[in-house]
Order: sequence, then structure tokens, then C-alpha cells
Amino acid sequence: MTTTAGKTVIVPLAVFVCLASLAGLWAARAAEEAAAVPVNPFEGRADVVPEGRSLFNQYCSHCHGPNAIQGERPRDLRRLNIRHGQQQAPRVFYETANRGRPDKGMPTWNGILTDDKLWRIFTFLETVQTPP
Ligand code: HEC
Repeated sequence: MTTTAGKTVIVPLAVFVCLASLAGLWAARAAEEAAAVPVNPFEGRADVVPEGRSLFNQYCSHCHGPNAIQGERPRDLRRLNIRHGQQQAPRVFYETANRGRPDKGMPTWNGILTDDKLWRIFTFLETVQTPP
């Protein structure tokens, strides 16, 4: 009698614990994904734009156009927001700059440009985005 009574408590309890830990895993996953969108530490900082523009013209302009003016669409970085949405643009920028797209002719900047410099460039690019 006591064992049956024990089981009726333990089985639902075990199910509950399993579901709770699944929910925990799911929440951790969601948090990880949200954290995966990198944050521009210079967001909205007008004072870093001139340096960002200068870095851009030094490292990126021979493919992406001086001051990011580029008629070839896949290389036109004024279209980052239109193409990827304002929320995902920083992630696409950061990942593409760090990994490159070797098959498409986009070099990797990992180990060449620090995050600090990349975000300065991004902050400049944000000021030249084509309006939606
Ligand atoms: C040697 C040429 C070259 C240089 C230099 C270069 N890129 Fe690119 N980049 C490309 C090409 C080509 C593409 C388009 C790849 C494609 O078609 O998917 C590209 C794409 C990108 C994209 C993705 C655009 C999108 O919307 O998908 C980003 C971001 C980018 N480049 C950033 C940079 C930055 C920042 C620099 C300078 C630090 C830089 N690139 C320098 C050739 C270059």
C-alpha cells in the first residue's frame, strides 16, 4: 500500500522535474540566441564616425567604394539595414567581417582589425544607410 502511494507521488514528480529542466534548457537556449546578436559599443556615438569613416576608407573602400558609395548591390554596405533589418545588421556585419566570405571574395578581418575598429567602421556605416 505504502509503495503504491509513494509511486503516485514520485511518478508525477519525476515528470514535473523532467519538464521543468526541459523548460530551463529552452530558456537558456533562447538567452544564448538573444546574446548572439552582438552589440555595437559605440551605438549612436557621432564622435567616432570620422574615425570609422577613415578606417573604412583605409581597409574597405577599394571593394566597398569610397565612403561606402558603391553601385554593385552585393557590395553596397549602405544596404545592410534594408537587406538584413536593423536588428540583424550588426550581427551580419560582425560575423561577415570576422569570418569573411572567401568563396565570394570578401576577406576575413579576424586578427587584422580589432573589435574596437570594426565597430567604429560599423558606426560610420550606420550613418550612411539607405532609408527603408
Ligand atoms: C577584396 C575586396 C573586399 C574588401 C577589401 C572588403 N570586402 Fe567586404 N565584401 C566583399 C564582397 C565581394 C562582398 C559581397 C559578398 C557576397 O556577395 O556575399 C562583401 C561583403 C561584405 C559584407 C556583407 C554584406 C551583406 O549585406 O551581406 C560586409 C558586412 C562586409 N563585406 C564588410 C567589410 C568590411 C567592414 C571591410 C573592411 C574592413 C570589407 N568588407 C572589406 C569584398 C571585400
